[in-house]
Amino acid sequence: MQNVGSDFQINMLKSCDKITTFAIIMGKSEKYGILFVCLGNICRSPAAQAVMQRIIEERNLSDIVVDSAGISSYHQGDLPDQRMRIHARRRGLDLTHRSRQVKADDFELFDLIVAMDDSNYDRLRRLAFTQEEADKVVRIADYFRQFTTYDCIPDPYYGGAEGFEIVLDLLDDACHSIADSIAKHKLE
Ligand code: 4NP
Repeated sequence: MQNVGSDFQINMLKSCDKITTFAIIMGKSEKYGILFVCLGNICRSPAAQAVMQRIIEERNLSDIVVDSAGISSYHQGDLPDQRMRIHARRRGLDLTHRSRQVKADDFELFDLIVAMDDSNYDRLRRLAFTQEEADKVVRIADYFRQFTTYDCIPDPYYGGAEGFEIVLDLLDDACHSIADSIAKHKLE
């Protein structure tokens, strides 16, 4: 991740919130940062964050850090949707992230910004200030290996229980693939 550890940058960042602390810690330690993004940051992207965090721990990929955010601020400060938390819990995942909106800083701080669907992808690409920032934005569907008939992670918010289950299945597939691609890159 970009180094944001100078005194000046730390003072500038002190005026912000949780991402600020994250930025200071991660910027100093040159970690590889992944940001998962969906619309509300209460269903798909906090689940993605937890799925990836577990893979990081299982595979001892301690130089990868992960966070999530939403295109919208509708649910700012909220815990993930209760239905998403229940389905994730059944797979041993605790979702404790608090919803936050994507910020301009995210495009500098993170190395990979993973959009859950094409709408998120288009919005993120338009929010980027430079081509370099825009190039960090990818579609999660590009990482599917088993579920290749899907072209996004479908929004489960207005649907039933099966929608939350498929979110977790798709995330498991994509997050293993993302971890493999980062690990492979490090070896090259
Ligand atoms: P998410 O799901 O983008 O996966 O967090 C949604 C959550 C909330 C809304 C839409 C999608 N909403 O319209 O409030």
